[in-house]
Amino acid sequence: MRLVLASRNPHKLRELQTILSGLGLEVVLESELGLDVEVEETGSTFEENSLLKAQAVLAASGLPTIADDSGLMVDALAGAPGVYSARYGNKTSDADRTRYLLEKLQNVPDGARGAKFVCVITALWPDGRRIIARGECPGVILRAPRGNGGFGYDPVFCLPEYGLSYAELPAGQKNAVSHRGRALREFARIYKEEFLHDQ
Ligand code: IMP
Repeated sequence: MRLVLASRNPHKLRELQTILSGLGLEVVLESELGLDVEVEETGSTFEENSLLKAQAVLAASGLPTIADDSGLMVDALAGAPGVYSARYGNKTSDADRTRYLLEKLQNVPDGARGAKFVCVITALWPDGRRIIARGECPGVILRAPRGNGGFGYDPVFCLPEYGLSYAELPAGQKNAVSHRGRALREFARIYKEEFLHDQ
């Protein structure tokens, strides 16, 4: 079965594809179908925004749709940037947003740099079926970027138990520990239980 990903982010596509292909699901970017759906992320939670994206692309394509809304919540910033992660400080690049975050945390001591990544996956089918799955991953914010992999805030998000940033994890390993990987495994669990068990 084909799922249309309500996103323009090829990094998300790659991370989703790895896990979903094991379920016999093929994920395609909306752009591959000639769609470019503008979605205003007006929700105050990842759940609301994930649903808004999936609904908009389902309405435009008429096909089963999957959306990912995700972001970084930093303890010392009372959960910011949260749902505003993609437009933090009105910066337009990952590097600028990351620099802005590090500036905000300049005076925050090592013991107080806790954070978590959150991901909510929403899949909608034209017949009304839906799956919503959430995943979180705790970590700490580094003082300077490390590593070249991934995207977004990956170079400054460190997993203390591995001593590595998301961007330093060996290729293909991010899904094993990440917020997105966790949300996708929860999605897979529900999909197998509710969609495949009769087959
Ligand atoms: P969204 O595309 O509206 O869900 O925005 C998510 C934003 O959160 C991205 O633009 C990134 O800045 C950040 N983000 C989400 N997931 C990740 C990740 O896995 N690594 C690094 N940054 C992420």
